[in-house]
Amino acid sequence: MSGSSSGEDPHGVQPARWVVGPPAPKATAWLARATSLAILILVGNWVHMTLGGVGLHPKPLPDGSGNDTGKLFNWHPILMTLGFAVFMVEALLTYQAPILASLPRETRKRIHWGCHSAAILCLLLGLVAVLQSHRLKLPVPMPDWYSPHSYLGITALVLLSLQFGLGAYAYLWPRLSLPQRLALGPLHRYVGAATWLAGLGAIATGLQEKITFMQMSKVVTGAALYGPAVRVPAAVLVLLVVLAALVLYLQVPPSAKHTGTLAMGADGSGAGGGAASSQGLLRGGAPAVPADEDDEDEEAARHRAY
Ligand code: HEM
Ligand code: HEM
Repeated sequence: MSGSSSGEDPHGVQPARWVVGPPAPKATAWLARATSLAILILVGNWVHMTLGGVGLHPKPLPDGSGNDTGKLFNWHPILMTLGFAVFMVEALLTYQAPILASLPRETRKRIHWGCHSAAILCLLLGLVAVLQSHRLKLPVPMPDWYSPHSYLGITALVLLSLQFGLGAYAYLWPRLSLPQRLALGPLHRYVGAATWLAGLGAIATGLQEKITFMQMSKVVTGAALYGPAVRVPAAVLVLLVVLAALVLYLQVPPSAKHTGTLAMGADGSGAGGGAASSQGLLRGGAPAVPADEDDEDEEAARHRAY
């Protein structure tokens, strides 16, 4: 233990920032994007190599006793991963760390709801894929909603729909007043992050469920226990944790009461200027520059863009 006996002023603790922040360094967002891409590639590879790829129609069994809807089902993991782990990641990164740091807030907002819309489209198609793979199964259709995974999955989807509906109502049309939008911000960010985490949890349980089904349908022993059929989803689960840590870190505001020089956007967009000041305010933290120092232009821009 050092510190208290070192003779330093016990009340003179200075705010400090490690090289890893907060705020998160610029590389965090790019690592998050790389992780998200790696997850999609791994899931795609697993679906192709282990589950046999995708198809749009059930395949009749050679003995005529029924059909195989496996390839139709296989769209489900791909589309769900694309929705929650790729499109939604870009949607969540875009405010703090857009692809181009110079993008104005209005464009970041368009990317935010555009990527969420793309995610929702993928998720709906992914849901249709699994429902149809159950319904079209012959000789006997498969039941629905029989697993904990399906309950978690549907909870995530319901939360997402509510969040999207409220977000669109508040920020797009008809749009709440500026004070109301500012008040809603912290709740929107919090519920949004919680919803996204529920989706990542659904990916994890879905992968585990499918592996368990595979292990139940044929005895797996010895080296096969450690083959790519299990190792690839295992890597995906670890990467999901990494992804959550990276994306959520960008939303952690700097703990120190920052001054103009410390108020650096998490996208590394610089310090102390108007952009940093409005980012501080819009993230729900204290504004980097007191509101009365904001100039009129920035105030007007915030009305338009928020
Ligand atoms: C965000 C991700 C995901 C969500 C929201 C989700 C949602 C759902 C829902 C709502 C069902 C129930 C459909 C029904 O009852 O007919 C379901 C079924 C299923 N999902 Fe997912 N899923 C996700 C990802 C995955 C992944 C990555 C896999 C991996 C293979 C997977 C495997 C399964 C399986 C095997 C079923 C059929 C058995 C069951 O109904 O539980 N899911 N999923
Ligand atoms: C689909 C569900 C949605 C989720 C999960 C979600 C999630 C989030 C999250 C986590 C943030 C914080 C981003 C950050 O600070 O870096 C955020 C901010 C924001 N979102 Fe959404 N969002 C959703 C839909 C929408 C929609 C449809 C709109 C309509 C335009 C919208 C408008 C905004 C705005 C204006 C902010 C900035 C709020 C602030 O900085 O206080 N969101 N959203």
